[in-house]
Parts: sequence; structure tokens; C-alpha cells
Amino acid sequence: MNERVLILGSGAREHALAWRLAKDGAELHIAPGNGGTLAFENHALDLANLQATKELARKLDPALIVVGPEAPLVAGAVDLLEGSGFSVFGPRREAARLEGSKAYAKSLMEKLGIPTAQSRTFHELEQALAYVRSSDAPLVLKADGLAAGKGVLMTRSPQEAEDGLRELMSERRFGNAGDVVVIEETLIGPEVSFHVLCDGTSALPLDTAQDHKRLLDGGVGPNTGGMGSFSPSPHVSRREREEILRVIVRPLLAEMERRGAPFRGVLFVGLMMTSVGPKVLEFNVRFGDPETQSLMVRLAGNFFETLRACATGTLVANAMGLGAGASATLVLASKGYPASGPRDLEIRGIAGAEAMGAQVFHAGTRVDGTRLVTAGGRVLSVTASGDSVREARKVAYRAAAEIEFEGMQYRTDIGA
Ligand code: AMP
Ligand code: GLY
Repeated sequence: MNERVLILGSGAREHALAWRLAKDGAELHIAPGNGGTLAFENHALDLANLQATKELARKLDPALIVVGPEAPLVAGAVDLLEGSGFSVFGPRREAARLEGSKAYAKSLMEKLGIPTAQSRTFHELEQALAYVRSSDAPLVLKADGLAAGKGVLMTRSPQEAEDGLRELMSERRFGNAGDVVVIEETLIGPEVSFHVLCDGTSALPLDTAQDHKRLLDGGVGPNTGGMGSFSPSPHVSRREREEILRVIVRPLLAEMERRGAPFRGVLFVGLMMTSVGPKVLEFNVRFGDPETQSLMVRLAGNFFETLRACATGTLVANAMGLGAGASATLVLASKGYPASGPRDLEIRGIAGAEAMGAQVFHAGTRVDGTRLVTAGGRVLSVTASGDSVREARKVAYRAAAEIEFEGMQYRTDIGA
């Protein structure tokens, strides 16, 4: 019998997870899903409604639940679902604080001597203002809580830092999330991510990846949710990967376990590769988007069993590995993105793109009668694998050229 899996979320990340788990023979259900995950079974759901999430789980009775985005994790979805007897891939609320509170993550890193930017945490605007006035280095301001990836302000002068602090702490642009602010030094270097599957005790690293956060070629223009990704990163050597596991991941897992908040799920370590070695920028407690799309096409082995082992605390550290090679993902976005733009525009050419050897993962799409139409800012991810990132990106770009919708935009330098 096929094992049933329920994935919570609606992005290309969730579509890629579903696609990969289906290869292991799982029967996939996605809530709420998107136009692409209709290839499996979608279920209407408001992810902010934890009771409704639990009721859907009771109805479907899956062997495994995979939580995609951070908000339900930080809100305690895993505690609730595990309390109802389900196996869930994702951390409970207390462990999800690694992403849900930057001040918490910082204090833990300080205690464990994990390399990260020097920082101070402030609860009062006046004290934070006094601190930035006395500093001449460029500072990074971070709202403590979740802010949909927008709560980080890079400042170049004390004046900009003061303005930013007022925005966060008195104008409360991100509500409660900015009541506490972490101020840190600006790190310089290439930015990479390292995804590590964890069962509370053991760690199984996937490969490194990089994403492209800015809208336009050359890394300029506004910040976005991510315009593309590739894997592996050329900036992390085998020795540095070992160092990241030894100095960052293992001490963190041991401390979380000691605190009675074992970390189960995927730890996304966001790193700056500085001239003095890797330093942590952030922890996320879920898969990255669009990094996941690039990672999923490279995975060998039984991913379903590996995720279930993480959920049940039975991970064998070398249960699966990454296939050799590399991958690249292009995000195709709507006109106007990252601001909101037109919707309901017909999308054509996906079958043609897949015939070119790429996988197309959906994000902002929906099916309207017999048409597939746009329904969001990031519409599709076009992912390809190859012997090298160079080969993979060639295939991805050829495939993307097959796809059309009005106003479609994408970067031409992903993985270049
Ligand atoms: P975070 O959500 O903490 O990863 O911050 C979002 C983005 O801001 C990161 O992906 C980096 O590009 C940038 N960033 C965060 N902290 C720093 C830092 N200390 N120095 C330089 N860039 C940073
Ligand atoms: N691509 C970065 C993230 O998922 O947070």
C-alpha cells in the first residue's frame, strides 16, 4: 500500500517536495496547494487555522505530515498534530524559535560560541538609538519576530539606522515582530545555505545551495522571495562543510536536546563565507524556497523514509545521499513583482519546457476551467539538473524559453 503524505503549503517548494516524495511511491495530498499540485490531490485550507489543519489531518490520516512554511511551525502546528498522534516532519514550537526569534537564535549562538555577526539586542527604542549613534560601521537591523522575510534592514549610515529603528520599533511596520530588534555588524562575502535534516540527535546534510534574492540581473533591484537558486555552491569546500557541521550544527542540536526542545525537521543554516570562515546569518527551521527546488532534483535514495525517520527520531546518518551533479532553478515572476501585479493571465508552454528536460514546479498558479492562469508574484520555478551548474542552467534557460504568460520576467544570470 502506498504511504499517504500530507504536505502543508502552497509554493513551488511544496510542489517540489511532493514531486520528490511521489518518486518514492507516496500518495500525496497538499493543503492548500496550487495549480501544479493538482497533479496530486489538493485540499482547501487556511494554514493560519490550526484547528482546521488538525481536522484535515484526522480526515486524511496520513503516515507523515510535512510542514512547508515557517508560520505554522512557529505557531505550534507540530505540537498540536503530534498531540493527535501524527508523525510530523518539522520542529515543535519551542525549537522553531530558532527562526521565530532572532534574539533567541543569537543568544544561543553566543552561548555556544557559534561564529556569527557581533550583535546587540534591544527592547527599548531610546537605547537602540543611542547605540547606533555611537557606531560608525554599517549596521544590519533585524526585527526579532517573523516578518515574511522582510524584517531585515541593511543600513549604511547612523542616520539610516535611526530611521530604520523608528520604522521597526515605533511605527511598528512589522507589528509585534519589531518590538525587539537585533542590531549587528555587516558581514561581507558570498552567501550560501546549507540544509541539514535532523531527528533531534543526528544530522544528515544535504548539499549547499545559493539563491538570488534581488529582482534583476547583476544582483540589483528590490529584494524578493528569491529569483533563482543553484546547487552546490562553489564557495564551500568539503573541509568547510565538515567545519559547519562540527562547529555549528552538532553543538546546536546537542544544546536544543539538552533544553528539552530537540530539533526535528530541516535546519536551514544561512551563512556568509567571510574571509575568516563561515559565519551564521540566520537559521530557518524549514526548507528554503527556491533552494528546495534545486535540492530535490539532486536527491538519490528514499526521501520519504528519511523524512519519516527525522519525524520519529530514527535517522541513520547516511540513509540517503545527494546524487552527483548539480542543478539550477529559475523563477518566472509576474509583471510588477515583488509589488503585486496582474493575475489570471493564461500560462502556456509547460509541457514544452518539460520536454526540454526541466521540471516545472508551480507557485502562483491556479486552474480556471481548462486554462492554467497566474495567481501570484512568483509563478513558476523551472529546475534542471546536469553534471555542473553550467550544464544545468543551460537546460533550465532553454526550457524557460518555451513558457509564456503576459508580463513574465526572470533573471538571465542565475548560476552564472
Ligand atoms: P536574514 O533573514 O537574517 O537571513 O537576513 C536576510 C538577508 O539579509 C540575508 O539573506 C543577507 O543577505 C542579509 N543579511 C542578514 N544579516 C546580515 C549581516 N550581518 N551582514 C550582511 N548581510 C546580512
Ligand atoms: N530562499 C531563502 C528562504 O527560503 O528563506
